[in-house]
Amino acid sequence: MRKQIYQKALITGASAGLGEEYARQLAAAGTNLILVARRKERLEKLAAELSEKFRVSVEVFPADLSREEEILRLAEKIKQTADLDLLINNAGFGGKVKFHKDDSGEAERMIKVHILATVLLTRAALPAMIRRGRGAVINVSSVAAFSPFSGTMYSSTKAFLVMFSENLQTELAGTGVKVQALCPGLTHTEFHQVAGMNKEAIPDFLWMKADRVVRISLRTLGRNKVTVVPGAGNRLIAFFMRCPWTFAVMRWLSRSRKIRKMAGM
Ligand SMILES: NC(=O)c1ccc[n+]([C@@H]2O[C@H](COP(=O)([O-])OP(=O)(O)OC[C@H]3O[C@@H](n4cnc5c(N)ncnc54)[C@H](OP(=O)(O)O)[C@@H]3O)[C@@H](O)[C@H]2O)c1
Repeated sequence: MRKQIYQKALITGASAGLGEEYARQLAAAGTNLILVARRKERLEKLAAELSEKFRVSVEVFPADLSREEEILRLAEKIKQTADLDLLINNAGFGGKVKFHKDDSGEAERMIKVHILATVLLTRAALPAMIRRGRGAVINVSSVAAFSPFSGTMYSSTKAFLVMFSENLQTELAGTGVKVQALCPGLTHTEFHQVAGMNKEAIPDFLWMKADRVVRISLRTLGRNKVTVVPGAGNRLIAFFMRCPWTFAVMRWLSRSRKIRKMAGM
């Protein structure tokens, strides 16, 4: 990544995993930060560490993005941050329950965190970026966006992010604003623990480290490619899932309980 490309970045889901890693790599490149998540203490600890180590300004903005009023409060903050030139919609979580059996509100929470927050925060950030003629939005999706066995709500909300990003980039042609839909595969973070998934059941070679995923995302941002799948193995999996012929095989494989379990269903 070239240094000092971005003046100020806002990262949702910055208290752990990929969001924390974005914060570390951007701070190291001299970008000032606004960190968003529910766990305030974690954000404050990270902010203190990064501002001390890299001499950047780091603000924390605790918010629960499964609540519409909190999303609107953050959108207002974005509108007031005139120098924001990078928005990273990264906050997310995996489903714990089957859609047809669930009335806990998890589906609605997922729509708010993955979709509503991304849409409203992006719309709040764009006018200033377009006026300035530069800026970028990264929407963290998943290879699950292409998968027929990664959870009804999880896959479908992540698929929304891919088409939202692709179409938004078309709409923004010529404005200088870049959009990326990052589609990681299995990545070592707290995601699987939070979702109650058993990581042990999944072979080592299928995993990537969060720092590598984020490095690829930042390096490829703005390079005429909207949907970015990090890692050769993940690209192969995504190819098989997107190709109509092999998708049929994937669907057939999804009948296997073992494979569904590996994919977290
Ligand atoms: N790890 C993987 O294998 C993988 C693969 C593909 C895609 N992804 C995607 O990558 C993104 C980051 O996940 P991760 O792997 O880094 O998982 P993680 O380590 O569990 O981090 C998730 C982050 O999202 C935040 N978050 C969750 N619910 C939130 C809410 N209601 N309001 C505000 N923040 C919320 C969490 O913060 P608080 O709990 O403090 O709120 C945390 O900072 C997610 O969108 C996920 O779907 C992950």
